[in-house]
Amino acid sequence: MQSRLLVGPTNHYAEIESRIARLDLKDLTKEDLPTPCMIVDQDIFESNLQVMSDHCRKTGIHLRAHVKVHKSPEIAKRQLALGANGITCATVAECELLSHAGISNLLLTRQPSSKNNIGRAIAIAKKDPTFGTVVDDPLLADWLQEAAASEGIRLRTVVDVYAGMTRHGIEPGAPALELANKVDSAKNLKFVGLMGYAGGAAHTHGFAERTARSKNDLSGTLETVAAARSAGLPIEIVSGGSTGTYNIDSETKGLTELQAGSYIFMDALYRLIGGKDDAHSYNDFGMALTVMSTVISIRHAGQCTIDAGNKALLKPTDEVKGWPEVKVENQGAEYGILKWEDGSGFKLGERVEVYPSNLDNSTAVYDRYYVARGENIVDVWSIMGRAGAAQR
Ligand SMILES: Cc1ncc(COP(=O)(O)O)c(C=O)c1O
Repeated sequence: MQSRLLVGPTNHYAEIESRIARLDLKDLTKEDLPTPCMIVDQDIFESNLQVMSDHCRKTGIHLRAHVKVHKSPEIAKRQLALGANGITCATVAECELLSHAGISNLLLTRQPSSKNNIGRAIAIAKKDPTFGTVVDDPLLADWLQEAAASEGIRLRTVVDVYAGMTRHGIEPGAPALELANKVDSAKNLKFVGLMGYAGGAAHTHGFAERTARSKNDLSGTLETVAAARSAGLPIEIVSGGSTGTYNIDSETKGLTELQAGSYIFMDALYRLIGGKDDAHSYNDFGMALTVMSTVISIRHAGQCTIDAGNKALLKPTDEVKGWPEVKVENQGAEYGILKWEDGSGFKLGERVEVYPSNLDNSTAVYDRYYVARGENIVDVWSIMGRAGAAQR
């Protein structure tokens, strides 16, 4: 049994919190942090950003990175600094928060269909004319036209076309073209192009299968793009794509921009889709995000208990960093169990990092990222919309 002292004086953590608030992080290490918490491996994260940026530059496609994965203006700013032409958002709240952080060229990828969301979208556009939204329904084009006219603005509008997912997107061909024409002729809407998000292709296992699925799912969108161009509609952007299909969609050449998001961190399930060169592991981007927990009990052989459970979104499909053979079990709101077949296992008080199964879900329950280089904490980034947000 180890005997090292794990905690400092009683006010140690209060002092750490006040240092974090001032970003005075000198000598701060993972041992000083509360758990469970989110850790970003700075080197892997920066390498992921660079790989995507280099890929886009080489293949001539733009990146309008999806923010829902990280919900962090700090990260969005880094993506933009490396050449991204904008940011895609899943919710109006994400658009508002990024806009307040001074970020422009935002595209809302889900149509704002309530009075509340339309008002908020129009307010963002009034402040920032580079903001735009998608629509997949003629009724929404009418509502947005009316709202934009009442505020005397012109709202950038993209028609979202079905691309293999039955959740959002108008049927390709005549219905999509008709909607594009409607938007184009609406006085207070500015038609800027089409979107087709092939989310089913993104997570298809096997590179050949994923390539076939992406081409198939995007075919209707791309045929509609060609028809819209022939009809003389102004197509500034064709938006779509994902982390799983980034190197497929850039080859297909139909999209002008990728909406990839997960590539910055990756997660345990996304890695299983397999890559071009490795059928079992998608290694184009490294695993940069972990949930760090502490071993809180070791009373039973071959297992230990950690302080991350349901509320930390611990899942049996999570993977323990450095211990891929260890099994993860969720044991309640604030407890998780790690099990192993042989070997010495984990010690009481030990820090254990777990790769989450799904980034978007896990990110939604934490307030901040602790950015680490080895054991040292070198930066702390807030996750936006965590305090008092009516909608995230
Ligand atoms: C509309 C849209 N675009 C882009 C993405 C980002 O995909 P990925 O995280 O696979 O890169 C998502 C993710 O769900 C999405 O819903």
